[in-house]
Amino acid sequence: MEDISVQDPNQGDKVSDELSFVHDAVLLQEAVAAVLGVNALPKQTGSDEQSSDRQNSLQISGIYVDATFGRGGHSRLLLSQLADDATLIVFDKDPTAIAVARELATTDSRVKVVHDSFATLTDSLAAMGIMQVDGLMADLGISSPQIDDGSRGFSFMRDGAVDMRMDTSRGQSVAEWLEKVDDETLANVLYEFGEERHSRRIARAIKQMESYKSTLELAEVIKVAHPNWQRGKHPATQSFQAMRIFINNELGDVDDFLEQSIPILKSGGQLAVISFHSLEDRRIKQFLQRHSKGQYPEDENLPMPPNRPRYFSKPKRVGPSKAEVSHNPRSRSAWLRLATRTDTDYQQTLKQ
Ligand SMILES: C[S@@+](CC[C@H](N)C(=O)[O-])C[C@H]1O[C@@H](n2cnc3c(N)ncnc32)[C@H](O)[C@@H]1O
Repeated sequence: MEDISVQDPNQGDKVSDELSFVHDAVLLQEAVAAVLGVNALPKQTGSDEQSSDRQNSLQISGIYVDATFGRGGHSRLLLSQLADDATLIVFDKDPTAIAVARELATTDSRVKVVHDSFATLTDSLAAMGIMQVDGLMADLGISSPQIDDGSRGFSFMRDGAVDMRMDTSRGQSVAEWLEKVDDETLANVLYEFGEERHSRRIARAIKQMESYKSTLELAEVIKVAHPNWQRGKHPATQSFQAMRIFINNELGDVDDFLEQSIPILKSGGQLAVISFHSLEDRRIKQFLQRHSKGQYPEDENLPMPPNRPRYFSKPKRVGPSKAEVSHNPRSRSAWLRLATRTDTDYQQTLKQ
């Protein structure tokens, strides 16, 4: 379970300018090294870890994608290792993240910005004339600035509108959805996307609310309806997570993104995906297993199972170091999964 919102979002230095809310990038070195296909990045000698000092830069050419820009922690380190002729395409659904990305693009012409879901990967890249890339990374979920800003509705510890959309420029908010949804559908969402065992009881209590104007009120109703709380965990954690995942179609977007990584990555290109809860990690693991084994599972009951194309090799899982977890507790539930695209031609295998 992702437990990001259990932590007190008041931790850290909240500054008035929302563009400068800080996001502590998780598995930073590991993910950037993975997407570049190197074991480790050169040691930074300057005081600034993300220094663009050429001596500490691998100066790699090619086209790379950071599918979840956030505040650009991974993008900036990636840029520090890329050559002048490289391109970095960054995606985010969040208008504030996109404002930060556009600001970066004004000072670094290698950066191209897409305000859309990474589920539009193929079409968005094609619109730029790009058919394939050398590396693809995503750091899934929500960012600390999104939680820290109570008005976005992600936190049950700060009051705000019951919104929870990553892209506030389109789609319905959780409040709008709650007005319309029936008890059973709501309970199913809480169960499926929050693994909430008391989903029916909580759904009934939520549907008895007169309005959905305040995250703190919603959290309180869930708390009262919840029959047994886990120590150290707010009883609304799983329900908030479920509504957020549902309203942003998070799992559907991840599935679409992973499928598109097959034709989009060049042979030898790298996929690196960080996730924060088991629902996502399981999907990434199963996707990589499916496309790296070269065989259909035995239980498919076929006399001679045909070979399945092997699109990925060397799938690997990396977790945060003890030092990272103690510095940034949010990283404790993170997993990075990485793999290398093989030279199996996607279009060719479709024809077979
Ligand atoms: C964990 S944060 C990424 C932080 C980033 N790596 C950094 O270092 O600042 C996740 C970001 O992905 C964005 N996001 C989540 N799902 C998305 C999707 N389907 N398409 C595009 N952006 C998405 C969120 O809006 C958020 O800004």
